[in-house]
Amino acid sequence: MQEGFTARAAANIALVKYWGATDLAHVIPCNASLSMTLDECASECFARAAPDALSDEILLYNGEALLPAEGEFHRRIAEHLDRLRDIFDCMTPLYIATRNRFPAAAGLASSASGFCALTAAVSHALGKPAAGANLSDLARRSGSGSASRSAFGGYVRWPAEDADIAAARDSDAALPAVPIADEEYWPLADVIAIVDANPKKISSLDGHRRAASSPHFRARLAEVPNRLLRVEAALAARDLDLLGATLEEDAIELHLVAMSSQPPIHYWRPGTIAALECVRSLRAGGISAWATMDAGPNVHVICRPEDAPTVAESLRALDPVRRVIEDKTGGAPCVYPGFPEGGWVI
Ligand code: DP6
Repeated sequence: MQEGFTARAAANIALVKYWGATDLAHVIPCNASLSMTLDECASECFARAAPDALSDEILLYNGEALLPAEGEFHRRIAEHLDRLRDIFDCMTPLYIATRNRFPAAAGLASSASGFCALTAAVSHALGKPAAGANLSDLARRSGSGSASRSAFGGYVRWPAEDADIAAARDSDAALPAVPIADEEYWPLADVIAIVDANPKKISSLDGHRRAASSPHFRARLAEVPNRLLRVEAALAARDLDLLGATLEEDAIELHLVAMSSQPPIHYWRPGTIAALECVRSLRAGGISAWATMDAGPNVHVICRPEDAPTVAESLRALDPVRRVIEDKTGGAPCVYPGFPEGGWVI
């Protein structure tokens, strides 16, 4: 039996978000985005070449057992395996076993970390080990654009192209993310308030598809380059007030675009508003805490590590908050031979 590899990749939280694509099929975003890679919220994927198998076997660890992947989840992974085999020019069937290290039923997105870990593990299993920009670009092709940013630790920018270059580009050309600063440069906390642990009803893919129908979409796109400059200046100066004001503004605007798309997408729940109010009152009390939400209702609060316990305690005290996860700036993916450390028991 061939030896396999395990890859671990963390999720990332976008400080300036990807929303809307010039070419969704080839995962070309309308705007550049910039994120912080997390630490605890991660996925692990084991991949092994199975030359004697008739087809791929794709399993998901549910906390107790490895079960065959089903439905949309299975379809997206199977498609990505075919895509990677095409790129690597190798037809070998694969055995895949994957698990999320996210706290159970947290309702957090796992596609960025999941597809990045899958891509890294498969590339090793097929003898074409990918890391850095190459891993980023291959992970992006899964359809989860944000997976491109999980290929690096710390702070990561995924570029876009202006409309002329995008129109003229070879749709298969590479578009990897670029690391800006590693996790040691400026460790921050991400305190996550889970207000709804159910899977989201409208996928990010549908959000990208509908984005341009919002009258606010163009206005946001026009503002994003300034916002990226502000975030980069804030990173250079380690200025949390500037970073926070900018990331909160961008998150609210993404949701404004989503809510005014056709048909509209309402990701917020009552707990989202409660957490946003809590963050504002923490600031009024002198704590630099700033909120951002991806395509879902849960609220990520970015703050200094020393303020994380106070922020977590305030969020936990809110009625609609189901649980609070304390995460922080994390590193790049890692790959090692064999099954995940600690076996499949979490
Ligand atoms: C709101 O198309 O990368 O999180 O595959 O679901 O992670 P997933 O979505 P993707 O869009 C990400 C949308 C976002 C903003 C962001 O992460 O930039």
